[in-house]
Amino acid sequence: MFGGRGQLVGAARDTFLPGPDVKSGPPFSGPLRRLPPARAKAPNRSCSLGSNDFALRRAGSTAVMRRLRRLAGALGRRRPDASRRERPADGAPESTGYKSLWNDAARADAREAILTGATEETFERTGQEDALRIRGLLADPASARVLNIGCGIGRVERHLAPLVGELFAVDVSGEMIRRARERLASFGNVVLREVASDEYLAFFPDGFFDLVFSLLVLQHVEKEDAFRYLEDARRVLRPGGILFVQFPNLLSPEYSHAFRSAIASRPRNPARVRPYVEAEVRHLVALAGFDPRELTVSGGSRGDAEIYVVAVRRE
Ligand SMILES: C[S@@+](CC[C@H](N)C(=O)[O-])C[C@H]1O[C@@H](n2cnc3c(N)ncnc32)[C@H](O)[C@@H]1O
Repeated sequence: MFGGRGQLVGAARDTFLPGPDVKSGPPFSGPLRRLPPARAKAPNRSCSLGSNDFALRRAGSTAVMRRLRRLAGALGRRRPDASRRERPADGAPESTGYKSLWNDAARADAREAILTGATEETFERTGQEDALRIRGLLADPASARVLNIGCGIGRVERHLAPLVGELFAVDVSGEMIRRARERLASFGNVVLREVASDEYLAFFPDGFFDLVFSLLVLQHVEKEDAFRYLEDARRVLRPGGILFVQFPNLLSPEYSHAFRSAIASRPRNPARVRPYVEAEVRHLVALAGFDPRELTVSGGSRGDAEIYVVAVRRE
């Protein structure tokens, strides 16, 4: 229900949000803050959705694997340009800075960059809680085709893959994708793809997914980029498909503090958190072509740090 407070998902939080156990510690204390200014670093060129992009190490050639191979081939043929987009050469500047920052963060400590202070147990538990929440949004999970925008190392994927039919995930960081591929190697129904900063979901056909979700990601990009992702999520969802996204709440003590802290920093970190307010989230989701069904606020010291939205793709 709109404006309600609840515990939609687990205690998912990242570098910029002190969680309940961290209380209101200083934001920007995670690895991203220590990163040097955005600098191009050779990204991995691994986006062809060829066999390397799959977790195909499961023994034998299962029907799912054959299907995914065919699907990858078809997708590759359908959008040949997408896989060649924006691959800055070694040392070349990258327009947004997202890629080099997140690649560096992943190399330094991927888990810490994703959930500051998380132990292995917390990391897995929150991934499982989020996966269960997502399964609960699907009418027929076993046959559902699901996409995650900004998967990191597959915190949620490890727990969601056994619950759904096909699981696709993209991330701007080739390093995150590389680690996710290792972590998810045993699953035959997972497709991972590194995307260019300005690629969004261009690789995927219209109406392809039953559910698109994104946690702890849209807050780290320019609001215009977050909106582009929402618009593209609508395009790749089938009519009636489900969107499940999270935004940080500016009105919470944690994100008010994070916002103020970021003001003075120069140059501004391209991956800094951009907080939102509920009305803004509701408006943007509707503007992108969704009917918001549920908006809940939870997490943080006052229980209002994160805004979660479940919305349905309008016809
Ligand atoms: C805080 S982590 C969250 C990872 C994952 N969603 C989770 O909840 O475990 C943010 C992730 O978003 C990715 N990311 C940042 N900007 C992105 C963009 N423009 N497109 C796709 N992924 C992006 C980062 O590389 C990183 O893996």
